[in-house]
Amino acid sequence: MGKLNKGKTDRAYFREAYQTGVHGWPTVEPSPYVVRFLRRVYGSDATGYALDLGCGEGRHARFAADLGFHVVGVDFEASAVRRAIAFSQDRAREGLHFVVADVLHLPFHGASFEVVIDYGCLHHQRKRNWPLYLHSVLHCLKPRGVFLLSVFSPKFRMFCNRRRQWHVVGGAYRRCFTREQVEQLFGATFSILETVEDDEIGFWHFLMRRR
Ligand SMILES: C[S@@+](CC[C@H](N)C(=O)[O-])C[C@H]1O[C@@H](n2cnc3c(N)ncnc32)[C@H](O)[C@@H]1O
Repeated sequence: MGKLNKGKTDRAYFREAYQTGVHGWPTVEPSPYVVRFLRRVYGSDATGYALDLGCGEGRHARFAADLGFHVVGVDFEASAVRRAIAFSQDRAREGLHFVVADVLHLPFHGASFEVVIDYGCLHHQRKRNWPLYLHSVLHCLKPRGVFLLSVFSPKFRMFCNRRRQWHVVGGAYRRCFTREQVEQLFGATFSILETVEDDEIGFWHFLMRRR
């Protein structure tokens, strides 16, 4: 990570992460949970549209495109989107697009996506914005659509031995989730098909289906 700098904002934190290429999450390899969950539901022959929220450098968007989805990756940081486009030039993929936008104010109309993927974006949203985030997901996802969510658990190294569930480091806000918090936020509109707690990295991974 870059030097800690107190006046920095979330966006400045991510801009520096992508401009330097120095950050704590993989650039190319998709998470094994995203791979497993998408394969579990769609096999290797997917159709329709997938949306990757907070796509970063596009590792999950590319994987979904390789499965057969038309994919839109969204990130509010333009340097992330530039890198996602650059990393996607390794071979021709039809129907893979990246857009600069805020996940809380998405520029899409109508519930047209079969799948929404969020690996590590919700846990950077302030708690007061959770309802807006849920509204964004529901606005985009088709009825019976699938939602993959991966968020920090209290076992993530930054939260170990701390009483608070949130903190700001290097300008970036982060919050860890208990399983109950995720169930409370999404349980009224989603059936949770699978939950995995990865103690090693301190993440929850949820596979859900919209009712
Ligand atoms: C930890 S990174 C994960 C990136 C990517 N999902 C991955 O797994 O490689 C979180 C990403 O969410 C993006 N992000 C955070 N808040 C956002 C928001 N409100 N709207 C759009 N993108 C956001 C950041 O720019 C960053 O790229």
